[in-house]
Amino acid sequence: MAGFFITFEGVECSGKSLQSLKLVEYCKTHNIPAFLVREPGGTEIGEQLRSILLNQYCTPLAEFFILSASRTQLTETIIKPKLEENYIVISDRYFHSSLAYQGYARGLDIKVLQDISKTVTLGLEPEITFLLKPSYEVARARLIDKKKIGLDRIEQEEEHFHKKIYDAYISIAKDYNYFQIIEGDPDPETIHQEILLSLKKLDSRF
Ligand code: TMP
Repeated sequence: MAGFFITFEGVECSGKSLQSLKLVEYCKTHNIPAFLVREPGGTEIGEQLRSILLNQYCTPLAEFFILSASRTQLTETIIKPKLEENYIVISDRYFHSSLAYQGYARGLDIKVLQDISKTVTLGLEPEITFLLKPSYEVARARLIDKKKIGLDRIEQEEEHFHKKIYDAYISIAKDYNYFQIIEGDPDPETIHQEILLSLKKLDSRF
């Protein structure tokens, strides 16, 4: 038995956080040792960095290094040790988010971000990444609806910024063979079953 590392990616309101939660709940009810983390955040330092990132203006490079500090703290102190204890580790976002947001959307050099991310993550890549991809119109409508309860600094960006991220993920998915695109328009339970079907093929614990 070995650890198994799963990440979820997607634009704002793609449904990835709900699917991460559904997956960890499934593991709990089936007595599969699983641990859910999120980025930025997941550690005490990471949660403080998350608050800075989502509330204060930072330059694109400052954003990347804040995210990277959170990421390396999380990888070294939680993700790696849990995998060594044979846990299924589920992360709501990982370094691919930085490629989409700070790279494709904010204009930082993708190759530089990939190189630094390798050091930041101690070379740890997921076994599988589920890219939740609702149609652009559905994701947009959900984000507009979320305005009623309040948006953070990044969610408040202009529409063209969000469109760049939407397109970026489609490009990123082609560069990593462990990316699996999941259509995000169906109801959450249908999506959850599709995710489980994929996982059952990869690890007998599911
Ligand atoms: P969340 O919406 O998934 O909770 O993520 C918080 C925000 O942080 C979201 O707007 C995306 C942003 N973000 C980046 O810009 N780059 C990153 O590398 C990560 C992990 C998140």
